[in-house]
Amino acid sequence: MFSALSQIIAPLSLAICSVASNVQQSFALDGGRLGPSGAGLFDPVKDLLSTSDYATLGHLAFPDYNVRVKKSDSVTGPAYTGYIDIKARHLFFYFFESRRNPNEDDLIFWTEGGPGCSSSIGVFMELGPCKVNDIHNVSRNPYSWNEKANIFFVDQPVGVGFSYADHGEYDYFPKSTTEETAKDISAFVAIFFEHFSNFKGRPFHMAGMSYGGRFIPTFASAVYDQNAQLLAAGMTPINLTSVIIQNGCTDLKTMIPSYYNVACQHKTVAPVLGISPCIGIKQALPRCEKWLKEACYDVTDAISCRTALSFCWSHIGMPFLTSDHNPYDVTKRCTPDELNDSLCYPITKKISSFLDRAGVRKTLGIDPSTQSNFSACNDDVNRRFSASLDHVFPAEYYLEALLERGIKVLIYVGDYDWVCNWVGNEHMTLNLDWFGKNAFVSEPLREWKIGDRAVGVTRGSGPLVFATIHGAGHMVPYDKGEEALVLVERWLAVKEL
Ligand SMILES: *[C@@H]1O[C@H](CO)[C@@H](O)[C@H](O)[C@H]1NC(C)=O
Ligand SMILES: *[C@@H]1O[C@H](CO)[C@@H](O)[C@H](O)[C@H]1NC(C)=O
Ligand SMILES: *[C@@H]1O[C@H](CO)[C@@H](O)[C@H](O)[C@H]1NC(C)=O
Ligand SMILES: *[C@@H]1O[C@H](CO)[C@@H](O)[C@H](O)[C@H]1NC(C)=O
Repeated sequence: MFSALSQIIAPLSLAICSVASNVQQSFALDGGRLGPSGAGLFDPVKDLLSTSDYATLGHLAFPDYNVRVKKSDSVTGPAYTGYIDIKARHLFFYFFESRRNPNEDDLIFWTEGGPGCSSSIGVFMELGPCKVNDIHNVSRNPYSWNEKANIFFVDQPVGVGFSYADHGEYDYFPKSTTEETAKDISAFVAIFFEHFSNFKGRPFHMAGMSYGGRFIPTFASAVYDQNAQLLAAGMTPINLTSVIIQNGCTDLKTMIPSYYNVACQHKTVAPVLGISPCIGIKQALPRCEKWLKEACYDVTDAISCRTALSFCWSHIGMPFLTSDHNPYDVTKRCTPDELNDSLCYPITKKISSFLDRAGVRKTLGIDPSTQSNFSACNDDVNRRFSASLDHVFPAEYYLEALLERGIKVLIYVGDYDWVCNWVGNEHMTLNLDWFGKNAFVSEPLREWKIGDRAVGVTRGSGPLVFATIHGAGHMVPYDKGEEALVLVERWLAVKEL
């Protein structure tokens, strides 16, 4: 069909990381096995050697789900892109093999936050194998996390990035919750391991940033609970080993008061707001906290909870957001228009134009039904989560439950961030109710270093580690690529920071 043509075009177009290279298959897809009954119907390995066509994989244990995978050329090693198809909904993913030892290195799942932001930002701006410098210029990222791990990036939920629904319809409209999304993600993970069978039993880490502080604890819990079903179906359970959260917003109750600490006190840098707005924030804070507790947590009354949130937001969030400071990095200026236009980082616009190039879309195998321009964050998706008050849910409960079950938790935070800052995250970790709480709380914060260089502070005890990275904003690997990679490398190697 189109394969001959696209094989000519694909090497000419910019591939995921700048130019095409020799295609090498370094691990086999276990396509012959279709679940417990083992009825092999096709041989996707052969198809996957093609950079133009998808192999479609199914699984008897998940009759509503399919996976479409294609290989992409990449100078930095094999890369795959594809979709998890859930009836009419389709979740897009990138998968990059480790540059070190794909057959032994751990596997990381990554999602961006928002809710509604695309993991393409993670790939091309933060921790992926290449960075977009300009629409026609992509360079190798020496600090990509696939230096040390196999990693996939998922656009979720449907509507985000290249993920789409047939007929443009969303099943979850008009409201979405992380718990609903978690069903798709846990099925995705199970199907992935069944087909990329070299990874079965491999230590698996679920990572994300920002609203990922809500997503990741929930998704990891769904993966954990799903293992009972996998065992019952005769499948290999997922070796969920840790969750990793970068500048997460997990617990609103500790994050909201921290907006005062970060904007008005010398926590990392000198106060960024004037005295008058800071007094306003301080005065509103007790009322906001009391109201939130009563309306959102003690009882669930959506209408008064929304009113409380709106009070808190206008008195505690807005003074900062209208101050021309970058909410992702208090040391930088950014106008509300720039925030709306580029999230305060012009690179996001370059990533969008790169991902709008027809050749790039062809290389990535973006479904032709996706006509619209790439958008880093989808406001409709964001609104649907807000509509269900998803951000009010105490996602730290999931962290406690995971810790109780031996799943490790790494919370790290770039210390220039305002929106999901280190002060709120530190409080959240100190409040966690789990068996190691006393030991964790009694640990002092200490510096952690790369060589002789102090790069942040950390507190860790048993399976829980909290760490900051000095001089990094919300998008930690964008600002401090080496520090982020060293941190994750030590975490994967189970070394102290
Ligand atoms: C690509 O971008 C990098 C980083 O901005 C720059 O050093 C390099 O010269 C650019 N290459 C081309 C061909 O424009
Ligand atoms: C899971 O990974 C750990 C390393 O984190 C390893 O020690 C263990 O054997 C693995 N478990 C299974 C069931 O493969
Ligand atoms: C953000 O920009 C879009 C157009 O790019 C505009 O429609 C929208 O009203 C803007 N929102 C705000 C809050 O300025
Ligand atoms: C996509 O972006 C291009 C260039 O910025 C613009 O000309 C075009 O109108 C946009 N298309 C849509 C469907 O918004």
